[in-house]
Amino acid sequence: MDWGMQNRLARMFSATSSNSVMLAVDHGYFMGPTRRLEDVRATITPLMPYADALALTRGVLRSSVPPSSTTPIVLRVSGGATILQEDLSNEAITTAMRDASRLNVSAVALSVFVGSPHEHQSLVNLSRLVDDGEDAGMPVLAITAVGKELEKRDARYLALACRVSAEIGAHVVKTYYCDGFSKVVEGCPVPLVVAGGPRLENDRAALELAHHAIEEGAHGIDMGRNIWQSDHPVAMLKALRAVVHEKATVREALDVLDQEVGQTPAPAKLPA
Ligand code: 5RP
Repeated sequence: MDWGMQNRLARMFSATSSNSVMLAVDHGYFMGPTRRLEDVRATITPLMPYADALALTRGVLRSSVPPSSTTPIVLRVSGGATILQEDLSNEAITTAMRDASRLNVSAVALSVFVGSPHEHQSLVNLSRLVDDGEDAGMPVLAITAVGKELEKRDARYLALACRVSAEIGAHVVKTYYCDGFSKVVEGCPVPLVVAGGPRLENDRAALELAHHAIEEGAHGIDMGRNIWQSDHPVAMLKALRAVVHEKATVREALDVLDQEVGQTPAPAKLPA
């Protein structure tokens, strides 16, 4: 791996824990103004100091992140379908590698839709992005998207989708935690990070998810709604850092959360 590629990965993954806490705020690219992400700048400003990377689109980067920021960026470069369509898998690459380089990002990300009507197209998109990424020294993060079919999140399916992504050349794969997750890790030769998915019943459930994922071999999280839809997003992010970087137990992470909640009032600006 060339120096530039290694350097970009080292910006996002801790040299000590080998793991990363990525904050995902790219949902608007197909969902529009998602609850508590309506004003992206307001949501991310207090969170950015605690994120190892920020996952977003170029529109949000240019409009809502100060260029003086040093938080590494994972740039979403696929899109082309919205929640108004039944099939979300009809995606293309929507941002050129030269723009990603111009924006000085640390990685580019796209969704692959294994088993969906546009499976072939999304895998060819991945292969082209990897070719461009290798030329530019830019890591590619493949997201094993399930569209609206959340029930697809089982070990057999995710192991297939992750392995195929890695075989095509993705440098990092984002997927979901599931029962039997260690099988997904075992079959994927590149680091895996896990998404949170839709808001779980409470903060504890999200900490449990992260804890199990790390215990079973994930190299971090790339989580959104279970952080910024929490009533205590900063405290939640700090508790997740304890899990991901210090291998904190769920009990220890809840202590971090409680302690932080005691110190930081919930932001008044966010809608209920
Ligand atoms: C949207 C994404 C999200 O970044 C990913 O799903 C992580 O966010 P969440 O934890 O809210 O699921 O890829 O397509």
